[in-house]
Amino acid sequence: MVVPIELEKSQHIKYDITIDALPQLTFDTKVAVVTNPTVAGYHLQTLLAHIDAPQLEVITVPDGEMYKKWETVEEILDRLFDSQFDRKSLLIAFGGGVIGDMTGFAASLYQRGIDFIQIPTTLLSQVDASVGGKTGVNNRYGKNLIGAFYQPKAVYIDPKFLQTLPKREFAAGVAEIVKMAVMFDRDYFDFLVKADLSDEVQLKEAIRRSVALKAWVVNQDEKEAGIRAVLNYGHTFGHVVENETDYTTYLHGEAVAIGMVMANALAVTLGLLSREEAQRIQALLEAASLPVTYTIGNVDDFYAHFFLDKKSANNRITFILPEGIGSHKVVRDVDEKLVKDVLRQFEENQ
Ligand SMILES: NC(=O)c1ccc[n+]([C@@H]2O[C@H](COP(=O)([O-])OP(=O)(O)OC[C@H]3O[C@@H](n4cnc5c(N)ncnc54)[C@H](O)[C@@H]3O)[C@@H](O)[C@H]2O)c1
Ligand SMILES: [Zn+2]
Repeated sequence: MVVPIELEKSQHIKYDITIDALPQLTFDTKVAVVTNPTVAGYHLQTLLAHIDAPQLEVITVPDGEMYKKWETVEEILDRLFDSQFDRKSLLIAFGGGVIGDMTGFAASLYQRGIDFIQIPTTLLSQVDASVGGKTGVNNRYGKNLIGAFYQPKAVYIDPKFLQTLPKREFAAGVAEIVKMAVMFDRDYFDFLVKADLSDEVQLKEAIRRSVALKAWVVNQDEKEAGIRAVLNYGHTFGHVVENETDYTTYLHGEAVAIGMVMANALAVTLGLLSREEAQRIQALLEAASLPVTYTIGNVDDFYAHFFLDKKSANNRITFILPEGIGSHKVVRDVDEKLVKDVLRQFEENQ
């Protein structure tokens, strides 16, 4: 299965996202695989057996979002200089979204840009992070604030790598899948309601449909000037939840699941979504073992947090809401009192 990427505004950029067993990859340049000890422990031998290159290095960086920072990218760059990589050399990102974002960013910087390939190994990175060319790192001012739009030469998605993924991480990826279905494709949503994602064939089909949707969005809007912002459904609320809980209680996808439930409550209040549809979405999230409840300590504080999000431009909150299941509406200038009334549904003693 191949999903092509052809960016409308950058005509010279074309590459394929292959969803299948990892093929044999042969290169005539130096190659460095960037990974972490967790992924390497499970799958590095398999990967290396699939790569043929005149010089092959493995750069292992520590595992964790807290290492998604400039210093780690610099470590990667230093290793490339030490090994005398040149402008024709290639990087392979082998891991989840953290590895993918940092490797892509390092590739964009090394001698003003070398090729890289994504081989994502988490569900979240297979359906989301590896598609679309956003790369970067976090810093003390926030997440993903330093980075570049830099597209890979190819993406190879092999669902077999997911067999070692912890259940919670798998569920976090499902949240982003549900997001795509609710925003863009009712038929896909219905498929997910019936699907058993522990079945290899159905999982592969779910990944293919998600990737195809994301590719369709990115092809129209590489730099997030328009429709790509719709991918932030559940994220406006989810980011506040992540922030309020110091990024330690919930995985990103879990916070997004809670955020979608909150966004749905707002959509119901605005008459965009029926209660029954909101319930269907919540049931799908629950069936995937995702959290759907959160207790807001203080509604005013929660609301104030919206404005810390870099996407709340000019002090206006943009809400991405479902308009029924399978389509979306971008809503601005929602009355503050109305939003706070919705948030009160999630307050303590409710
Ligand atoms: N670039 C984008 O468009 C985009 C989109 C969404 C998210 N992201 C970024 O992606 C990151 C989150 O990605 P993630 O959820 O993949 O997290 P992650 O990369 O931290 O991976 C989660 C955990 O799973 C482990 N792991 C990876 N593959 C495994 C496997 N096959 N078996 C067992 N364990 C495995 C990792 O080592 C890690 O401990 C965030 O930094 C986020 O900002 C980027
Ligand atoms: Zn997300």
